[in-house]
Amino acid sequence: MLILGIETSCDETGCAIVENGRTILSNIIASSLKDHSRYGGVIPEIASRRQLEFINVVVQESLDQAKLSLDDIDAFAVTQNPGLIGSLLVGISFAQGLSLALNKPLIPIDHIRAHLYSNFLTSNVNETLEVKLPCIGLVVSGGHSNIYHIKSFENFKLLGQTRDDAVGEAFDKVAKILGLGYPGGPLIDKLAQQSTGKRIPLKCSAFPDSFDFSFSGIKTAVLYYLKDHGTDKDFNKADLAFSFQESIIEEISRKTIAACLTTKNKSVIVGGGVAANSCLRKHLVNDAARQDIKVFFPPMVLCTDNAAMVAGLAYHF
Ligand code: KG4
Ligand code: ZN
Repeated sequence: MLILGIETSCDETGCAIVENGRTILSNIIASSLKDHSRYGGVIPEIASRRQLEFINVVVQESLDQAKLSLDDIDAFAVTQNPGLIGSLLVGISFAQGLSLALNKPLIPIDHIRAHLYSNFLTSNVNETLEVKLPCIGLVVSGGHSNIYHIKSFENFKLLGQTRDDAVGEAFDKVAKILGLGYPGGPLIDKLAQQSTGKRIPLKCSAFPDSFDFSFSGIKTAVLYYLKDHGTDKDFNKADLAFSFQESIIEEISRKTIAACLTTKNKSVIVGGGVAANSCLRKHLVNDAARQDIKVFFPPMVLCTDNAAMVAGLAYHF
């Protein structure tokens, strides 16, 4: 079964074709990121206007890359929520148009769950995927930080979530405080690698007996540390970036492993833009291994927003 998926929840315009919920035949992404960077964040009005310009071309390129025509497609899928309303509207309207014109089903998809589905995709038909359900799902993106108990693709139980900022949002805000630019996650990740290893004490608020997170306090702690020590002779911005990143990743790792132990799960799948973070990829795998828990990350290209995860998940509905 061939599903063509469309993703327009934030600044990306994505279209992908996935066979039988597993094999990626094409995956095209156009981003308007450079139009937003000088504002330090995504401007919804700009994002949706660019998506209107991109969508036709992106869908056609996706068909061309897969060497298929619209007649070959069995069903369409589109990100329904969450996302920027104007951006979602572009993708949903386009997908509805295709579905009506070609008289083929349209499957609405939840963006957050789709991020986790990236772990079940491959570009190689012969590859055997190790990942299996049930498992714990960790979503770490620019808008969400959720821990799920996933029993089946239709049965996601939310165990915990952030009570304030999402983890990617905290990375972006701290990068702004440090004067690094936007998007901040990859810039902090890179800067932290130049740290001397000196750990500045910064802590995430903890909620005992809960899988919830809070990333807003630590962001303010970075701001005050910079105000108080930014002009000190031995101040090192890379050490501050490193300490912030380490504390956040330790918290995520601790809660995710606790969720596994409580639900007696031996595997974790990770999704969302922050899944690209090198510290998270290393720490979580090592910490989990000590408890005999296996962690799966999608390939880098499927960590951030893409339509393959949308077309893939749709196969199960
Ligand atoms: O999943 P995504 O592409 O969009 C949303 O659905 O939000 O995630 C974007 C987020 C941004 O906040 C970005 O700073 C963060 O992912 N990000 C990273 C890294 N790469 C992207 N955060 C930390 N380290 C990275 N290497
Ligand atoms: Zn996303």
